Amino acid sequence: MQFRTRAIHVGNAADPATGAVVRPIHLSTTFAQPEGRRGEFDYSRSGNPTRKALEATLASLESGVGALAYSSGMAAVHGVMMLLGKGNHVLAGTDVYGGTYRLLHEVLNRSGITTTLAPSTDLAAFEAAIRPETRLVWIESPGNPLMSITDIAACAEMAHRHGALLGVDSTFATPVLTRPLELGADIVMHSATKYLGGHGDVLGGAVVVNDPELLERLYFIQNATGAVLAPLESFLCSRGLKTLELRILEQSRTAARLAEWLSTDRRISGVKYPGLADHPGHDLAARQMIGGFGAMLSFEVAGDLAAAQRVARSTRLFQLAVSLGGVESLVEQPAMMSHASYARQDRLAHGITDGLIRLSVGLEAPEDLREDLKQALDKAFDPPM
Ligand SMILES: Cc1ncc(COP(=O)(O)O)c(C=O)c1O
Repeated sequence: MQFRTRAIHVGNAADPATGAVVRPIHLSTTFAQPEGRRGEFDYSRSGNPTRKALEATLASLESGVGALAYSSGMAAVHGVMMLLGKGNHVLAGTDVYGGTYRLLHEVLNRSGITTTLAPSTDLAAFEAAIRPETRLVWIESPGNPLMSITDIAACAEMAHRHGALLGVDSTFATPVLTRPLELGADIVMHSATKYLGGHGDVLGGAVVVNDPELLERLYFIQNATGAVLAPLESFLCSRGLKTLELRILEQSRTAARLAEWLSTDRRISGVKYPGLADHPGHDLAARQMIGGFGAMLSFEVAGDLAAAQRVARSTRLFQLAVSLGGVESLVEQPAMMSHASYARQDRLAHGITDGLIRLSVGLEAPEDLREDLKQALDKAFDPPM
């Protein structure tokens, strides 16, 4: 079955009890055990039919043997990191999500887990940062917020050569555009809050693996610590997945058009979008990404911080807000919003300047979004440059 068909059918068979084509939401926290016989489910933290349906779809879409749905993307990252213990080391790409940076540097460090950040786009420099005690290599592609592209297959080979697992936060790419497990990664993780849910109304996370033993270890940790996705959220996420491919392909097409257009505007000093030929990761992205370059893009305003702020505050359709991946377009300033938890010097060293603006391109008509950006730039640069 093709991806789009699996997104609709896998995990979503009609309800055997009633024939309902849209499966019910199982809110029950406990499951009867007649005469002491335990069925497939006993208690909702350990297993829930609505969550299980979502996990089946996710595993299929990411080409894994199984998936786990968490209460948030950070709970999913944490669930993976709890595979580690005192004395273990994590090598993470410099472009990882700010919350992952904070978890590694301000929470996991307390348990004796150390972290090194190195540029995952420069394989030699990345490998040079690996240590004998490195157990996990963690990357994002496209990276947040510079849209850097990392060679997942090469990182998998490198991690395995050093006895480490490769985990990929694939929130930006989604399984429509990149399937890390097929490229050799051990773990793929999502903030389901973003594209998987897709409508800005679910907070959730997901992990998919292709090794049953690793799945069992992650399940044990999740059940022991309790950060499971609730039934209503599981249902909403399953519903979002049914249109995932259509949304991602269309939103990516619009983002590509906007990136082209922005790169011709002299009020913009640089556009970061892997679909543009001048993006440093373009050739790799063209090989690694399937059918599009994603719906996220960033750009630098040719002006000071105040000018960038005026642009971000002048859009009407693009709403000034953190998060991404919904049908509504959003705009934000990473230095002040999504990446505020980075230490300033780390942020600047990684190219996240004060003038950077990030767009999450939604499902609105491309012409309307372009018009919105144009009027915001006109307003911010009045009198015109
Ligand atoms: C790339 C990426 N990873 C992880 C997360 C964390 O996910 P959540 O907010 O669902 O906990 C986010 C949230 O913005 C993200 O953008």
